[in-house]
Amino acid sequence: MRKKVIAANWKLYKTPAEAREFFRAFLPMISGHTRDEVVICPPYVDIYVAVEEVRKSDITIGVGAQNVNAQHACALTGEISAPMLRAAGCTHVIIGHSERRQFFHETDDLVNAKLKAAIAAGLISIVCVGEVIEEREAGLTEDVLRRQCTRAFAEIAADQARAITVAYEPVWAIGTGKTATPQLAAEAHRVIRAQAAEAFGDEAAEGLRILYGGSVKPENAASLMAEEEIDGALVGGASLDPKSFAAIVKY
Ligand code: PGA
Repeated sequence: MRKKVIAANWKLYKTPAEAREFFRAFLPMISGHTRDEVVICPPYVDIYVAVEEVRKSDITIGVGAQNVNAQHACALTGEISAPMLRAAGCTHVIIGHSERRQFFHETDDLVNAKLKAAIAAGLISIVCVGEVIEEREAGLTEDVLRRQCTRAFAEIAADQARAITVAYEPVWAIGTGKTATPQLAAEAHRVIRAQAAEAFGDEAAEGLRILYGGSVKPENAASLMAEEEIDGALVGGASLDPKSFAAIVKY
């Protein structure tokens, strides 16, 4: 049985003070909850507060960044490296989110470079893949997922696959209120797992956690998580409110 991972992606929301307020409300709500792994990915400036607050929790909660630069210690104004994230107390990092691919023109090769940097720094990556609506309608979903995974996993050794989780996030479901049905998500997850098997072998692929993301809410979390292929959730909008995110964690 793969332990499920319920991860929050706060995107461009919450100041440090708001982050602290979130944790003070949220932590008591999930006290003692060990069935699932919980990870919170706040904006960079909230990482310090998040790390400080989760240390007060009675359960282990991961803190992740939403992006990382593949380089370290060089002249790249405004960027943050994987070793810096690790040193700041991060355990996780989201890589290749569709908003980064769409608005910051991140390519599959850049995703691969970031993934390698994250692994080298000892971070667990949440690698996002997923098709846009035009690709789904044209019957290209499998091709897109295969390409994104093959390129992301290039030149990564099988024994490093433990540091990788994947999030299947159909772009048409992100922030739209439209959720993929558990069956449709499971189909995509099987394609991703097959690709992981090709890259890392069957055993590593079997252990790979593949999360679903795209309009996960307290109302649909249980039916999504009931699907054997779905190993957790990456939650945007519904992770901002402590009550709502706690309800998802405890689906
Ligand atoms: P959403 O975002 O839950 O608001 O759809 C998910 C994501 O982008 O990770």
